[in-house]
Amino acid sequence: MNTYFEKLGRTVLERWRQQNFSLELFPELARIAMDENPPSENVDLEEMVHEFLANDDQPQQGHSGFGQPELVAFNDQRFYIQILFWMEGTTDIHQHEFSGAFHVMQGSSVHSEFEFAGAKSITPHLRVGDLQLKKIELLETGRTIPITSGRACIHSLFHLDTPSVTVVVRTHHDPGTGPQYNYLPPHIAIDPIHADALTMRRKQLLDVLENLDHPSYAAHVREMIETLDFERGFHTLHHTMDRLMALGEWESILELFQNKHGELAKGVADTLVEYLRREYITQMRHHIDHPEHRFFLALLMNVQNRKDIDALIIKRYPGNSPTEMILSWAEELIEPTEFGLTLLDAAFPESIDVDMDTQFYLLLEVLRNALESNAIPAEQVEIHKAITSSCLRLLFT
Ligand SMILES: [Fe+2]
Repeated sequence: MNTYFEKLGRTVLERWRQQNFSLELFPELARIAMDENPPSENVDLEEMVHEFLANDDQPQQGHSGFGQPELVAFNDQRFYIQILFWMEGTTDIHQHEFSGAFHVMQGSSVHSEFEFAGAKSITPHLRVGDLQLKKIELLETGRTIPITSGRACIHSLFHLDTPSVTVVVRTHHDPGTGPQYNYLPPHIAIDPIHADALTMRRKQLLDVLENLDHPSYAAHVREMIETLDFERGFHTLHHTMDRLMALGEWESILELFQNKHGELAKGVADTLVEYLRREYITQMRHHIDHPEHRFFLALLMNVQNRKDIDALIIKRYPGNSPTEMILSWAEELIEPTEFGLTLLDAAFPESIDVDMDTQFYLLLEVLRNALESNAIPAEQVEIHKAITSSCLRLLFT
C-alpha cells in the first residue's frame, strides 16, 4: 500500500468525520487536502508503479472501465482515492453522480466547463437543452479542481500528454444526483448507463443488414423513425447516420424525424453533425501524439470560437502569434492520400488539377486567408469551402 495515499486517505477521513460527513463540504475538503501536500510533488510515480506491481497489500480494486487503467490507492466505505492513467483519453462531456476533487499528478489537460441551459427532460434518460461553454482553461501539473455531483458540474477533459495521470478523491455514489448524463453538444444529454436492451439489439440487427449490404436497410430505418418514440428514434438516427449518409438517404430520414417531433427535434441535426466532427477529432487523437498537435486538436474539439482559441494559444505559448502557430501546426498535419493532400478532414478538391506541391501551398494560403478573414479569390473558393466545412470550422467563428 502506498504510504502517501494511505496518509492522504486517513487525513480526509478524519477531517470529514469532524464535519459529520457533510456531502456539501467534501469537494473543498478533498481539494484542500491535496493542495496541502500535492501528489504531483510528493509521489514518485516510478516508485508507486513498482510498489503496486510487486506488493500484494493493496486496497480492494474495482472493475471500472474508467481510466487507462484505474488503480484504487485508498478505499473506505464512504470514499476512495483513484489514480487514473490516460494514454489517449478524451472524456465525453459529462456530469457526476459522485463528488470530491481531482488533481493533475502528471501531464496537462484542457478542462472545459459547461452549463445546460433551458434543459427539458423528454424521458428519465434523455434531455434536450442548450449546452454552453462557461469556462475553458489549461490545467498544468499540480492543479486541483473540486467536483460536485449533479448538474452543477458538467465538464470534459482533453489530456495533452501521454500518459497523463490524475488522482481523484471521491465518494462512491451520491444518491439522488443521477443520472450521470453524457452531453452531446450542442443540444442533447443522454444517460449512458441506461441499457435499453431492445434498442441495443435493434442496432445490432441493423449492423447485420449493413454488413450484408441489404437493399432494405434505409427502408427499415425509415419505418423505425416513423413509428418509434423520440428517444429510440434519436438513438436510431445516431447509430445509422454514417451509413445513411453513404446511401444518400440521410437528409430525407432526418426530415422525417423532424416532421414527426417538431419543436423537440430542433437541435437534433446540429447535435448529430457535431457528434461526427468530434468523433473525427477523437479518432485523429489516436495517431497524433505530438503534444502541440494534441493541443491543437483539444482546441478544435472543445473551444467554440476563435477568440477563445487564440487566448488559450497565447496562454500556452506566450509571445507567439496564434495565427502563425495554427498555420505551422496545419503545415505539419497536411498528409498525402491517393486522391491528393488532406488537412485533417479537409481534402484538397479533386476538381482542381494541380500537383502536390501546389496543393500544399494552396491549402496553407487559403487557410491563412480564412484565418485573417481576407477576401477569397474565385479560384480558391472550392478549397476555402473544403477547409471551412471541415473539423477546422470553429476557427472561423
Ligand atoms: Fe469528470
